[in-house]
Amino acid sequence: MSNIDSILVENRVFPAPAAFEKAARVSGRAQYDALCAEAAADYEGFWARQAREQLTWHKPFTQVLDESRAPFYRWFHDGELNVSYNCIDRHLPLLANKVALIFESDNGTVRRVTYAELSRLVGQFANGLTSLGVTKGDRVVIYMPMSVEAVVAMQACARIGAIHSVVFGGFSAKSLNERIIDAKAKLVITANAGIRGGKVVPLKAVTDEALATDGGDVVERVIVYQRADEKDAPVAWQKGRDIWWHELVQGKPDYCAPVWVNAEDPLFILYTSGSTGKPKGVQHSSAGYLLGAVNSMQLVFDHKPDDIFWCTADVGWITGHSYVAYGPLAVGGTQLIFEGIPTYPDAGRFWQMIERHRVSIFYTAPTAIRSLIKLGGDLPAQFDLSSLRLLGTVGEPINPEAWMWYHEKVGGGRCPIVDTWWQTETGSHMLAPLPGAVATKPGSCTLPLPGIMADIVDEAGASVEKGGGFLVIKRPFPSQVRTLWGDPDRFVKSYFPEEYNGRYYLAGDSAHRDDDGYFWIMGRIDDVLNVSGHRLGTMEIESALVANPLVAEAAVVGRPDALKGEAIVAFVVLKGPRPAGDEAKRIITTLRDWVAKEIGAIAKPEDIRFGDNLPKTRSGKIMRRLLRAIARGEEITQDTSTLENPAILQQLQESI
Ligand code: WT7
Repeated sequence: MSNIDSILVENRVFPAPAAFEKAARVSGRAQYDALCAEAAADYEGFWARQAREQLTWHKPFTQVLDESRAPFYRWFHDGELNVSYNCIDRHLPLLANKVALIFESDNGTVRRVTYAELSRLVGQFANGLTSLGVTKGDRVVIYMPMSVEAVVAMQACARIGAIHSVVFGGFSAKSLNERIIDAKAKLVITANAGIRGGKVVPLKAVTDEALATDGGDVVERVIVYQRADEKDAPVAWQKGRDIWWHELVQGKPDYCAPVWVNAEDPLFILYTSGSTGKPKGVQHSSAGYLLGAVNSMQLVFDHKPDDIFWCTADVGWITGHSYVAYGPLAVGGTQLIFEGIPTYPDAGRFWQMIERHRVSIFYTAPTAIRSLIKLGGDLPAQFDLSSLRLLGTVGEPINPEAWMWYHEKVGGGRCPIVDTWWQTETGSHMLAPLPGAVATKPGSCTLPLPGIMADIVDEAGASVEKGGGFLVIKRPFPSQVRTLWGDPDRFVKSYFPEEYNGRYYLAGDSAHRDDDGYFWIMGRIDDVLNVSGHRLGTMEIESALVANPLVAEAAVVGRPDALKGEAIVAFVVLKGPRPAGDEAKRIITTLRDWVAKEIGAIAKPEDIRFGDNLPKTRSGKIMRRLLRAIARGEEITQDTSTLENPAILQQLQESI
């Protein structure tokens, strides 16, 4: 594995700058070690203390962790609270006029929303939802662009105890339809359009298509936020079903009493890819989830009252849940949210926005950093980035070269970088440096957060002190996935397999530890690709391809890609003869568009190759190892003696 080689030679160490360390919430390695020791000595006591200090409870909990139904763990389960109350109301006595959200639109207009205003927006919209019959436990699908309203919609659901399921605006009608049906959503919140990079994305039209597809009629009402002028984004209207956001909130009281929920009541479902064709509905709790978000805002982002925080993730991903919609609000912070893309109008957009809004904490993905290096590596120097004090990354391993550029060109050499490893399922950061306490190394996510019992184990579940193995978390933690929506068996099989006595949480990543005990993530161990920091299942893309009438069989693998981390390569057997020349090109375009329509543009294969068949063992199993080698353009050194049809390899190699 090429990424193992590259990290083995990486031995630069960056201690926290003295001034940063001095002012940090957790200051110096001894304080970090002390927190870890506290958690090790009294695990439940440690988390109970955090939960009491960081969250405001309506009814205090008396029990901390309930393991009686393992691995369906429960935390703080006799306590009651409301997540929206924790994000908004509790700040109002002191921070009513503090800016909660700074929204910058695609074309640069700025809107500021204070905590008092946010309270009114959420209250009105929550009352609107209630007036449409949405109550506690109902599922609401949110298919929206990055906007103040997207955050308001999520908070309003939390306020009334409805369970939201945000679907990223780049997903297709088909993907939206599947998620709506799986969650049995009775209401969808969308916008007439999203605007990104100067282009209008017709979200309402996609929603209409999703609802017109089989099973879409579970949805009773559709709320439409008017983002663009009607002339730029005309919409079809279904009377009795569709209602404009602005008409819904018209005349509604701007206070909505929070519905107190049980700590374990679900806050949201978020679909993510796994090893099968069907996405998993990751179900999160209310209290434990929020605790993870708050705790990591404090420990990893070292969040302080004066910070201007900017996480560039879309609310359609877990990062946009924990570090846009919930975490920054729960700590009473001011955050920037951005509608557009990093390269519009040019590759200086992020740096210009940091200068303009005096951003102090900036959190983005390695893939964005790499593309900005490529498109304008010198651009940061043209802006005043002196407001920055901390940088972060998430989504995939960051290559040391990109890390160094980020450190020097963006951080001016003075900002620690927190490389945060976590997942949709973990809800919040698991492995990441506490920036005033743990020295960083380019490419390593360093050490577990206090109270996170991460380890690397071999196939038998025994700890691996040196070298690579499977990343696991050995004790339950508050922000972890509670179950997969409607599929508890898959939850157990995916994350708590028997090999590890059914108790360790298996992350699905491989990792290794260096001499200092630092973790280095090597990649997924399952059939999941990481494309631009987004998780895509190979099976999902294969099912999409096979659903095309031209296709008989398909196999999808990843190939390392300098910008995206991994690129998607598909090997396809058509029902008709193997195409060549212009015909092959035409079918490639057809199939790429088809996948975009089936799943979303992010899943489009970079490369499609045709064969008369696929390399299989005599028992009929597709040999993906070989396909991976072909996709990388490598010579095939593996044993091919078990192959049913060896001649196919050459054909696939030549079939560009
Ligand atoms: C997978 C989770 C967590 C939000 C974004 C992705 C990979 C994530 C890192 C990192 C190396 C990382 C892992 C993980 N990953 N962060 N800092 N270093 N790899 O969430 O879609 O649930 O994907 O992303 O492979 O399992 P996700």
